Amino acid sequence: MSSVEPVKDTTRSVAEHRGDFPILARPMNDRPLAFLDSAASAQKPECVIEAEARCYREYYANIHRGVYQLSQRSTDAYERARGKVAELLNAPDAREVVFVRGTTEAINLVAWSFVRPRLGPGDEILITGMEHHSNIVPWQLVCEETGAKLVVSPVTDDGEVDLEDFRARLGPRTKFASVVHVSNALGTINPVAEMVAAAQAADVPTLVDGAQAVPHGGADVQAIGCDFYCFSGHKLYGPSGIGALWGRYELLRHMRPYQGGGEMIRYVTFEKSAFAAPPQRFEAGTPNIAGAIGLGVAVDYVRAIGLERIGAHEGELLEYATARLREIDGLRIIGNAREKAGVISFVLDGVHPHDIGTILDQEGVAIRAGHHCAQPVMDRFGVPATVRASFGLYNTREDVDALVNALYRVKEFFG
Ligand code: ALA
Repeated sequence: MSSVEPVKDTTRSVAEHRGDFPILARPMNDRPLAFLDSAASAQKPECVIEAEARCYREYYANIHRGVYQLSQRSTDAYERARGKVAELLNAPDAREVVFVRGTTEAINLVAWSFVRPRLGPGDEILITGMEHHSNIVPWQLVCEETGAKLVVSPVTDDGEVDLEDFRARLGPRTKFASVVHVSNALGTINPVAEMVAAAQAADVPTLVDGAQAVPHGGADVQAIGCDFYCFSGHKLYGPSGIGALWGRYELLRHMRPYQGGGEMIRYVTFEKSAFAAPPQRFEAGTPNIAGAIGLGVAVDYVRAIGLERIGAHEGELLEYATARLREIDGLRIIGNAREKAGVISFVLDGVHPHDIGTILDQEGVAIRAGHHCAQPVMDRFGVPATVRASFGLYNTREDVDALVNALYRVKEFFG
């Protein structure tokens, strides 16, 4: 399948799309809202909100089941959304896209359906030291069950993967490698195509966690060369509770289902059941129908603006924010990789990140403070938590200025 670019809307700059997001017009503590937490979850444009509402208002019914028109319309819209996700990722075949709740469920699905049956005592799964908990804990669970071992390639002081180390850890016992494309805690963009090539040279299948990569520049699964790729809709301006796993059809075809139930079967008897072909095999039960349709609209939306343009816009904001934050005495940026997406983590001498977050909120600035579901990354850099500002397509230099001004207020407050 070739990727079909929707008509590009280049009449507006990326940030001029801010007006598409109703929530951003709402003041916060009587101030304009500077929303700098899109890495946790992005805000939703009117078209996505409206698409979900229209589904419920005009044509909602369960999919793949009804012979009546509403069900057919819902089914068509749901399957069209699958095709849009396939195009977004440049997947060769829409049947390779499985709708899931999000990245976490996608990784668990691969862990239990693909990796678990291949693991025995002493086997290894390779990850990096900058993974989100969702790319650590599922592997620990399958390792506990099988006696396999989780191997971690550490991150450098700048917050980068050490490619030589990663290569060296791919050995005869390595059965799988699962790596993050863009770190949610550090912003590092990993050289995933090289990492995947290294794994392939060692005959090791791979998964790439694209939760932070797809919204900030996009991903091309054929160029990356991995076996599985996943992302969450809610970080891509789509609804929450919906995301996608892409996997090579040849692999999906031979995988056992992750969950059993309706819609994933060919037939059921009390003695035995036979499973449907992918992707339905992995979509047991009634899925998030309106969510998938909303995700399809979010995909159209970002592709019309241009994911590369969005990535470039956020890159420019990152550069500006990095320079401005460096002016603040006692502020230390955690994660200084050469290639970074629009995520900037930092600590401020003598002030706990949660206190910073609370004061920033009073100033109308929404950031995330904590360990960002990446406690091993915090341990690596010797901090319990960081403050993290992350950018979306709607952010502007004014948002960064609001952050910096509010940080000076924090400093005043703590003397
Ligand atoms: N994974 C999300 C974050 O980085 C929730 O904040």
